Amino acid sequence: MKDVILGLVGVGRIGVMHAKNIAALNGALNPEGINVSLLLTDVAADHARGIAAGLGAGFLPSVEELIAAGVDGLVIATGTGTHPELIKAGVDAGIPVFCEKPVAMNVADALPVLDYIRDNNGVVQIGHQRRFDHGYLEAKRAYQAGELGWIHSLRAVTCDMAPPPVEFLASSGGLFRDCSVHDFDILRWLTGREIVEVYAKGSNNGDPAIGAVGDVDTALALVTFDDGTVGTVSATRYNGAGHDVRLEIQGSSRSLMVGLDEQTAMASAEAGIAFPAGEPHRTFAERFDQAYRSEMAAFVELILGRRGNPCTPEDAVAASRVADAAQESLATGVPVKVVLAAANAG
Ligand SMILES: NC(=O)c1ccc[n+]([C@@H]2O[C@H](COP(=O)([O-])OP(=O)(O)OC[C@H]3O[C@@H](n4cnc5c(N)ncnc54)[C@H](O)[C@@H]3O)[C@@H](O)[C@H]2O)c1
Repeated sequence: MKDVILGLVGVGRIGVMHAKNIAALNGALNPEGINVSLLLTDVAADHARGIAAGLGAGFLPSVEELIAAGVDGLVIATGTGTHPELIKAGVDAGIPVFCEKPVAMNVADALPVLDYIRDNNGVVQIGHQRRFDHGYLEAKRAYQAGELGWIHSLRAVTCDMAPPPVEFLASSGGLFRDCSVHDFDILRWLTGREIVEVYAKGSNNGDPAIGAVGDVDTALALVTFDDGTVGTVSATRYNGAGHDVRLEIQGSSRSLMVGLDEQTAMASAEAGIAFPAGEPHRTFAERFDQAYRSEMAAFVELILGRRGNPCTPEDAVAASRVADAAQESLATGVPVKVVLAAANAG
């Protein structure tokens, strides 16, 4: 039995959640009772010290000291702009890295990171947690087993209840890169196909501060796959009904909806229909609780050499290529071809 020490950098919105999930992994990972311990750091030192104390984790003042402490894996949950340097630091230390999506602010910034990881035999898992969500997994299984027939329409929806702080939005890369990138990833993962063109529109009817930092609060992209199949990807920051993430997959034989359950943030307009009757999710952390836990358990399995990488940097950058095209289409008002990676383009 080998114990695992994880080092976590960045305990903001998502980092705190990962820290709690890592603390909860302890001893419950598998029948052998692998012991997982956590060291964390954040430039907001007092805040991070408080989180560490609450979770029985250790605090160190810098990522350098975290790595020097001999961690077996590095979890990066800082803002997107810091991901490239921190990924490189983990690769240089020769330890597996889990980094929140995306790899970098845009594809141009991400490509040198991919080269660096490859040239230095790095192992880097990117945080597209929907790949672990039971609903998306079942949809992929059903499609690949031929139960849906051929897909004629895909409709992906990602709705936040309320916007994150404007300071976060100012450095998030835009709604498609921040939110819809999850949908772009899952559409490629589920269908096994490339999205080749995007036509995007957006609106700004909420807080004018969002427009002032160059973002939109609501957007929709029409995506075309390499076999001509069409789909839509929509996102908003203002869904008062709840945090709503769904995917409709309509096939020639059967249709499925991921995210349709008693907690779906939607009511029927038909008389006498009580479904869904539950309390809607309010945040991404609630909606994907199971997926985030499974994702972190998978990272420990990856460290232990027991499984392959569930989301490679190349996978993540492929989704970012679609997000970049969507941001460009939003800015220019015309459809934009996705620049596929050389291996995919042929
Ligand atoms: N997978 C998902 O569903 C999901 C959801 C939310 C955010 N994210 C991603 O997670 C990342 C973080 O987002 P967030 O909303 O938690 O941001 P946040 O701003 O709430 O938190 C970032 C934290 O990192 C710290 N930090 C920044 N630079 C640092 C550095 N160099 N060293 C140490 N600490 C540093 C900050 O002090 C802060 O506490 C983003 O890249 C975002 O795209 C992913």
